[in-house]
Order: sequence, then C-alpha cells, then structure tokens
Amino acid sequence: MISFARGAPAPECLDAELLADCARSAIEGDPSVLAYGPGGGYGPLREWLGRRHGVEPARVVVTNGGLQGFVFYAEELLAERPGRVLVEAPTYDRPLKILARLGADVRSLAMDGEGLDPDALERELAAGETSFLYTIPTFQNPSGRTLSTERRRRVVELAAAHGVPVLEDDPYGLVRYEGEPPPSLHELEGGELVTYASSFSKTVAPGLRVGWFVSPAGLSARLEARAVSNYISPPFLAQATVHELIDRGAFEPNLERIKGLLRQRRDAMLGALGQHLEGEAAWSEPEGGYFLWLDRLQLDAGELLTRAEAAGVTFVKGSDFFPAAGREAVSSGVFARSASARADADLAHRTARLAFSYASPSEIDEGVSILASFLR
Ligand SMILES: Cc1ncc(COP(=O)(O)O)c(C=O)c1O
Repeated sequence: MISFARGAPAPECLDAELLADCARSAIEGDPSVLAYGPGGGYGPLREWLGRRHGVEPARVVVTNGGLQGFVFYAEELLAERPGRVLVEAPTYDRPLKILARLGADVRSLAMDGEGLDPDALERELAAGETSFLYTIPTFQNPSGRTLSTERRRRVVELAAAHGVPVLEDDPYGLVRYEGEPPPSLHELEGGELVTYASSFSKTVAPGLRVGWFVSPAGLSARLEARAVSNYISPPFLAQATVHELIDRGAFEPNLERIKGLLRQRRDAMLGALGQHLEGEAAWSEPEGGYFLWLDRLQLDAGELLTRAEAAGVTFVKGSDFFPAAGREAVSSGVFARSASARADADLAHRTARLAFSYASPSEIDEGVSILASFLR
C-alpha cells in the first residue's frame, strides 16, 4: 500500500546511529536522567527552550509529545473557563476526538488559502463565552495552509480584545522548504494569552515523544502539576537525548537533512498532481510541513478512498478533519448542531488530506497517478 495517510516522517529521516550516540552520551554525561525528577521536564532542555522563546524556564513544560500537552491544556482551560472551543475547519483530528471526549462544545471557523478567517473568529467570539481558540497557523494539519502575517495580527488583536486564550500548535514551523517564516502568534502577542506548543517529532523523531508548551507562568505551573499527577516524571532519557543533539550542534544539520528528504517528496507530489490532475481538482502548495489538501474532487472522497485502497493507495478523507464529521465518528453529540456544521460536512466530502512525508518520491508519483485515474 502506498500511504498518503501517515503523518509520519519517511524512515530515512530518522538517524538511528546519531540518536543512539546522543542517548549514550546523555546517560553517561548525566546519570540523573535515570531517576525521577521535575514533572515539567529535563532542566537543561527547559532552559534552552526558555532562551529560544525569551521566557523563564519555568514557563516551559516539556511534554510527552505535543498531543499529551494538548490534553493537559484542554483539561485545564475547560475547567478554568467553561465555554466553547473554537477550532479551524478543517483541523487536526486527534484534538477533535480529545475535545469530544472531554465534552467540549466545539465550534468551527471557516478557512481559505490564507488560513482561518478572522471575520469568522470575530463573529464566534461575539456569539458567546469562549474557553479557548485552538489554531495551527503554519503548514496546518491537515490543509498545509499558513496563516498570513496580516491575519496573525488580527487574530491576536481579537484574542486580546475578548481576553480569550489561544493555543498555537506549531510542530511544522521549522520544517520549511522555502520562503520567510511569519512571526508566531506568541511573538506577536507576547505570551500573555497565547500558549505556544511545538514538538521534536517532526524535527528529530516522533518516537522520542518530546514536545513542549510555553505558557503564562500560572498556567505553566498547573500544566506541570497535571504532568506530575499523571506520570510523576516524563522520560528524561528522551529529553536529554534531544538536548545532547542540540548541545553538540547536530540539531540544525540533522534538520537540514530531513528537510532535504521531505522537500523532494513535496516536489514529487506537486509535480505529479500538476501532471495528472490539472483542471480536475485543486490543491494547496505548502512551503513546508507534511501535508497538502486536495479540494474540489469530482468524486466523493469516501468513494475515492474505497477505490484507491483496492488499487493500493491510501489517504485520509477530508471529512475526518471537520468537527461535524468528528461528531459522527465519536457519536457523542457534543459538536455544533448548526448550519455551519452541515456546510462543513458538505464541503468535507469533496476533500482529502495527502501526506507527502512518508512515501518515497517514486511511490508518490505512482500513487498520485492511481488517484488521478479515478478522478479524471
Ligand atoms: C498539528 C499537530 N499537533 C500535534 C501533533 C502531535 O505531535 P506529537 O508527536 O508531538 O505528539 C501533530 C502530529 O501529527 C500535529 O500534526
């Protein structure tokens, strides 16, 4: 099976020898990584991340991947500020499932090629109490879209005007193949309301399970308390391995190598789509990240998936990334019952997420030509 479904790096991206060597040095250099310790993470890594974000290390909580941090953040915010959770439509499916499990009232915000629509945000903020906004502004999962700088400023202004906390989830920002990075929401806002989350999953290796959250001081302490009550300490060996990689100056060269491998895949997918599907569908052209979004399909995405899988190609249907579809998936009845949810569902049926991160360039070419044969 050629997989455009897996949001995972190609196996060549993972440098086992380098990471094994870093792990060995990490234990030998600091045997305390084998003991219990602070729930908020390995001290030297927190310090490095704190310097990078211009905050005290106590404001950094190093989590077991970004997703674990999302659970803690959502639990904390929903308890502190009951209200609706605003998300982009489409958005990363796992948080949708977590929010459904937590009983959150999730409202979706329309997007276009420039990311979330600030007018939709303004309307939702005026419509009722909001617990928090969850956004993936750069190389979004699933759409690959990036929020423009102008819209970033508006999002931050709106959040400040309404006093609404924002979770900026940014695991892909450093995986940029070309173009200038826009400022983060966290930088624009100063970190009073915006919590910045990221991860070494896409820049080093997902199996290490090292993510981080930069939050206002009070919230950071509460996230750390949740970590302690859930697992006492995080795996320091993984965190110290990442720190060793950084300390020996190998993080950037390794990232460049990973980006080279992924850029080839992104180019292969854009090239194949242009060759086989010009005029038959539309797609995003991300300057980085793992995904692109196929839109305006001539065929229902579920039907396309059935046929594609029979022919050896898989991907994820766009509908899996919309709250309305999430409602069907978890049948919990908590998602918006509105016209906008129905509009999401209609839109979603003609869309698909294609991950170019995992398959090889030649598999990508073959896989896209198979998909195209069902769409033409
Ligand atoms: C937007 C987004 N956030 C968070 C994550 C979770 O990453 P981690 O491996 O750090 O838990 C992912 C993984 O695909 C993602 O796409």
